[in-house]
Amino acid sequence: MKFQAPKGVSEYVPPRSNAFAWVRSTLEHTISSAGYQLLELPIFEDTDLFTRIGASTDVVSKEMYTFEDRGGRSITLRPEGTVGALRAVNEHGLDRGSLPAKVYYCGPFFRAERPQKGRYRQFYSIGIEAIGTHDAALDAEIISIADAGFKKLGLTKYRLEMTSLGDSESRAAHRVDLVKFIAGLDLDEETKERANLNPLRLFDDKRVEVRDLMANAPILLDYLSPESKANFAEVQLHLTAMGIAFTINPRMVRGLDYYTGTTFEFVHDLLGAQSGIGGGGRYDGLMGEIGGQDITGIGFGIGLDRALLAVEAEAVVIPESFASDLFIIPMGQSAKSAALKYAADLRSAGFKVELAFGDRALKTAMKMADKSGARYSLVLGDSELANGTVEVKEMSSGTAISVRLDSLASALK
Ligand code: HAM
Repeated sequence: MKFQAPKGVSEYVPPRSNAFAWVRSTLEHTISSAGYQLLELPIFEDTDLFTRIGASTDVVSKEMYTFEDRGGRSITLRPEGTVGALRAVNEHGLDRGSLPAKVYYCGPFFRAERPQKGRYRQFYSIGIEAIGTHDAALDAEIISIADAGFKKLGLTKYRLEMTSLGDSESRAAHRVDLVKFIAGLDLDEETKERANLNPLRLFDDKRVEVRDLMANAPILLDYLSPESKANFAEVQLHLTAMGIAFTINPRMVRGLDYYTGTTFEFVHDLLGAQSGIGGGGRYDGLMGEIGGQDITGIGFGIGLDRALLAVEAEAVVIPESFASDLFIIPMGQSAKSAALKYAADLRSAGFKVELAFGDRALKTAMKMADKSGARYSLVLGDSELANGTVEVKEMSSGTAISVRLDSLASALK
């Protein structure tokens, strides 16, 4: 029986895994250069941690991989990273020092969605959270870090959409009118129930008839308290000062329930239906809700699978840092032994070096060197060992120069 990967998972094998690794390390570097530090977290958590944050959302109510472990506990494969990060920050007291606590995480997430291009049941995401400080400049920094990451990936065809969900007074005032408005609509029971849990969800409904009905619904932005309004204006001011373009989308609804204040999404123009390459926002009541201090927070998650698809759609040329500097072809027993030693020495001097294995004919070995993408190759035989020099061939041009075996490192440099 030939096995296949489970339906709808994303996985990366060479050569594409090199591009995936480059996307991940580029984003990771962008994030850590702003002083955010790594959280390495479990991929499963107590189910309750997730259920308390998103009863009205598909992510939590329909798409979780939940099971009982051998001790009879209910466990869920993490569908998102924010609550797990807050759980860890609270558990380890990272929010008892200087604030904001600035953390990031990276890895697989799980949602039992209908798979399609850019939408997987196991997908990869990198996320960042700044916990414990309410400052419009922090909101702008968070957004600018995502933007800088996309720019570092060479992306240009993406847009930033933003809105503000305001403070609790703004949301309460809006909710009164929105609930009144929704009560006057002709909706099926299931939709009414969704609206009961979170009336904002109806802005997110994909059905045209519901969209039409919601066209005249009251918009939260019109209900912002003076403080929320001023705060959102300041976020926009900072972004403009940084040269980051954005549009206001007052009907934006994120797929998770915990958002407050500034919320945002990055949308890529070439990705079709699954165009959200990253998104996030403030979640000012969340830490308190999972048993921590009553402190604020803001963050984002970037989908690595989609970021890679965007890189490919824009035909970004990826730096080939994964190709080797040198490919060594040993001919014969004593040459193999010497080649192993030269390769090890050159690697510890910082070069990427590969060897040909398996006693192939010289022609076949040269083809392997070519395919490896290495910049240089050399053939090491008994005569090279005897006279201490070797021909180092530049693969792109085919030109070769004679190099002393004991000065290979300086020649490669
Ligand atoms: P999210 O928007 O649900 O936010 O997910 C973050 C990103 O993960 C999305 O923008 C998208 O690129 C990617 N993504 C989501 N679902 C899938 C899927 N099924 N297949 C492939 N990619 C996917 C969050 O999860 C929040 N925790 C972000 C956040 C952090 N908010 C505040 N802090």
